[in-house]
Amino acid sequence: MANETSRFQSIISHCKEYGFIFPSSEIYDGLSAVYDYGQWGSELKKNIKDYWWKSMTQMHENIVGIDAAIFMHPTTWKASGHVDNFSDPMIDNKDSKKRYRVDHLIEKHADELTETGRRDEAKSLLDGMDALLAKDDFTGLKRLIEENKIICEISGTSNWTDVRQFNLMFSTQLGSVSEEANEIYLRPETAQGIFVNFLNVQKTGRMKIPFGIAQIGKAFRNEIVARQFIFRMREFEQMEMQFFIRPGTQKEWYEFWKEERMRWHLSLGIPKERYRFHDHVKLAHYADAACDIEYEFPIGFKEVEGIHSRTDFDLRNHQEYSKKKMQYFDNELDAGGKPYGNYIPYVIETSIGLDRTILMVLSEAYTEEDLSTTEKKDDRVVLKLPPKLAPVKLAILPLVKRDGLPEIARQIMEENKNAFRSFYEEKDTIGKRYRRMDAIGTPFCVTVDHQTKEDSTVTIRHRDSMQQERVHIHSIKSIVEKLLS
Ligand code: GAP
Repeated sequence: MANETSRFQSIISHCKEYGFIFPSSEIYDGLSAVYDYGQWGSELKKNIKDYWWKSMTQMHENIVGIDAAIFMHPTTWKASGHVDNFSDPMIDNKDSKKRYRVDHLIEKHADELTETGRRDEAKSLLDGMDALLAKDDFTGLKRLIEENKIICEISGTSNWTDVRQFNLMFSTQLGSVSEEANEIYLRPETAQGIFVNFLNVQKTGRMKIPFGIAQIGKAFRNEIVARQFIFRMREFEQMEMQFFIRPGTQKEWYEFWKEERMRWHLSLGIPKERYRFHDHVKLAHYADAACDIEYEFPIGFKEVEGIHSRTDFDLRNHQEYSKKKMQYFDNELDAGGKPYGNYIPYVIETSIGLDRTILMVLSEAYTEEDLSTTEKKDDRVVLKLPPKLAPVKLAILPLVKRDGLPEIARQIMEENKNAFRSFYEEKDTIGKRYRRMDAIGTPFCVTVDHQTKEDSTVTIRHRDSMQQERVHIHSIKSIVEKLLS
């Protein structure tokens, strides 16, 4: 675990050093659990969004996308249950005044037990916690913490308050102070923007059940324990899809989307053994079945995506609170030859965190290689990103800054930059430039050398194998496009 933790730290440092991810407003010492994406991080993020969007909307004829506002009518969150239920059990240490999420506090203690070889104790602690969480037994949770002598990392004491619920939504005021200001929330999930637009999209798109609505957007949660880089943030992005179905078919569609989403994950080139499903014991207030797709991060197996069978909970509640009918008329015939008629659709949701996907892809790609020979010590850090997700696809590098090589390289840049993200660089030795491109995951580097002037060929270097081949200038575009597809 210690090695894996230091690997996690290395990934965080790498992200900062190479322009992927910076702490937000860093010149003011940052803001806890809020991050900015830099020049290469934002390209990677956009590529992941595009890949998800295409696989959801373009590849499924019955799924369309929307882009709803972050601010929503406050009643939305009453109807969705977030005002009353979107909270986590918390406990404060009376000496340090530090507040902890109860499950995180207990899980951390279980990790420590595991690290010291006390696996059985760790397992029974976690099983005990799951059972108490499932029953919302807060007195039992406090007792569990005390019996296991779990202490606060700051004060070192076990002087705990009672366990209490703490709502995770951020609120703000809509309207000026002089007017009647309304309290509204920053959305804690994008899903509600889809539910409130269900009828708009169904009617204007003439959508027939089963159909889906997809969305990518920001969500905000006042996370209490937020110390895991972009794994748990206060401002983050979700890629969600609500699939509207006939009541009674939820089991088969739930299984369908579990399989379909796992297929998407595997299409990122990540091996199967790095993933697992985790079925929820304690279901969220809206679900009748739910599971997570977990990936083995350097900090252990953790949730990347949730697949939830949300019943008709959301649409039914929006119908009740808005007094607008959230119904669908299904004119298909049932087994008895009668139309299914009017009903509130059931929903299967797939909800993946964009930032967690980025962390997953980076964790998988980050590789330290020892290239030392008997003559020379050497190593490299390379991001073995899937080429389709890499921020830069092609680097164009003149071997030297003279003899007409930069001019040829510039011309190659002009010929390719419209087709895919290309990058021109002439500073430093070619070896250093290759390493910089490896570090940001550029799959192909083209080098213009003196032979180029004679026969219009260049070398193309493959990031992972570091193999080089000579190709004609005019075939660069088709070679890269073929390798990207
Ligand atoms: N609409 C359902 C929903 O929001 P969730 O399991 O709470 O379900 C879905 O969130 C996904 O959003 C998670 O699997 C995770 O990838 C991501 N996510 C949730 N909270 C997050 C946070 N604080 N920081 C980063 N990603 C988060």
